[in-house]
Amino acid sequence: MELQSHTIIVTGAAGGIGSAITAACARQGARVAAVDRVEAVAPSGEGIPAEAVTPFLADLSESAGCTDLLAEVTDRLGAVDGLVNCAGVMRRGDLLEIDEDDWAATYAVNVDAVMRLCRAALPLLKKADSAAIVNIASQWGAAAGRRTHRVQQFEGRGGLAHPQSGQGLRGPRGARELDLPR
Ligand SMILES: NC(=O)c1ccc[n+]([C@@H]2O[C@H](COP(=O)([O-])OP(=O)(O)OC[C@H]3O[C@@H](n4cnc5c(N)ncnc54)[C@H](O)[C@@H]3O)[C@@H](O)[C@H]2O)c1
Repeated sequence: MELQSHTIIVTGAAGGIGSAITAACARQGARVAAVDRVEAVAPSGEGIPAEAVTPFLADLSESAGCTDLLAEVTDRLGAVDGLVNCAGVMRRGDLLEIDEDDWAATYAVNVDAVMRLCRAALPLLKKADSAAIVNIASQWGAAAGRRTHRVQQFEGRGGLAHPQSGQGLRGPRGARELDLPR
């Protein structure tokens, strides 16, 4: 997908992977809505115009945080051509260690927010000439789907909630992209 002059929403933009994606999109000429619950530091460097990245603060674990975000981005930047769901929560702990709050917090961001943002963005993306959604999951999600890895999944350093939520995002076919209704 050609990114020049396209508007791309990147969630988790203050994090390690999200900030790299933000910089890469900006370097290719995109306008980036850099979304995080903490202020994302606008990337700088060769080939990144200062005005390319607009930070947005949002708590994506809340339903309203997702829908309000799309309204705010279109208000300030106009059309939306792409969505990169990179915000994520990684809580450690096996079945006996993890509590319900950890489990809920992981699913709220890693799975529910992805569904909500995709649904809110879809009507806007359908208006674009070319559009894409990229969901960042986890290789631990693949492990969670294989029987032979079940014990490892409960005991491994990835903990329980993160692999399970990764599996939720990957879906039964292991796909990381969603089928978009026309
Ligand atoms: N780094 C790895 O080794 C690794 C491995 C497997 C999967 N992943 C996945 O890649 C993605 C990014 O990973 P990373 O290493 O950049 O993580 P990171 O922790 O550096 O960044 C995640 C970002 O998401 C943001 N975030 C969390 N909850 C939020 C909320 N409620 N609202 C808005 N923003 C929120 C955080 O503030 C943070 O900036 C995650 O989805 C993670 O599950 C990473």
